[in-house]
Amino acid sequence: MLTLTAVAEDPLVLTRRLNLNDGSEVVFRPLTRTDTERLADFLEGLSAESRRLSTFDGYDLGAARKLCDAIARYDKLRLVLEDVLSGRIVGLVEFSLDPHPADIARYREAGIHLAATDCRFGPTLADDYQGRGVGTRIFPLVADVARRFGRKRVILFGGVLADNPRAIRYYEKHGFRRVGSFIGKDGAQSFDMILDLHPLSGR
Ligand SMILES: CC(C)(COP(=O)(O)OP(=O)(O)OC[C@H]1O[C@@H](n2cnc3c(N)ncnc32)[C@H](O)[C@@H]1OP(=O)(O)O)[C@@H](O)C(=O)NCCC(=O)NCCS
Repeated sequence: MLTLTAVAEDPLVLTRRLNLNDGSEVVFRPLTRTDTERLADFLEGLSAESRRLSTFDGYDLGAARKLCDAIARYDKLRLVLEDVLSGRIVGLVEFSLDPHPADIARYREAGIHLAATDCRFGPTLADDYQGRGVGTRIFPLVADVARRFGRKRVILFGGVLADNPRAIRYYEKHGFRRVGSFIGKDGAQSFDMILDLHPLSGR
């Protein structure tokens, strides 16, 4: 089973190349400490709407530095999608390997008892990569990452805003089911969703 330390020591264990529908090539790989500036470009480039749908602590070099400094230090695993030709980071996928107490309490109300074999997942694509099937292309890789960390279920990192129909459709399409709703700090309604990961046959 993979560990955060093992991934930080050898990011190649989770590195995969993909061809997108438009013929371009991307690499899905763990975030590394040398990504700080490119990650800052990615965060800075997110539109106000993307920042509303997928919230980070900041969108500048300082925020990028914090994310890179956090590699293998907490329970978070972050992977990026990199356009091979330009080297540009065009997506960030976040995992949290330890369910948060607030999540545990909310899911318990829905009759679901979160455990150490569950993880949280949150995807964010650059604006010009959204709505093109890229999220769908990387989803098998996302599920593979969770499985390789011994995870059996995936929940959403912070839920999904009720007025984010594309993300809701994306999650449902990949097998997530809605288990409840809650009102966030800003008063907006969000949904909790969960996916049961089935073991791959023949592995
Ligand atoms: C959410 C996200 C990762 C999905 O990735 P993506 O590449 O855009 O998604 P895909 O194109 O693979 O799939 C989206 C699906 O939603 C559908 N869709 C698009 N807009 C929609 C809308 N307004 N209402 C309903 N469905 C919609 C698409 O048709 C597609 O379904 P289909 O394949 O059955 O046709 C990406 O859009 C993103 O980063 N969004 C901004 C940040 C965000 O919302 N993150 C999630 C926070 S919880």
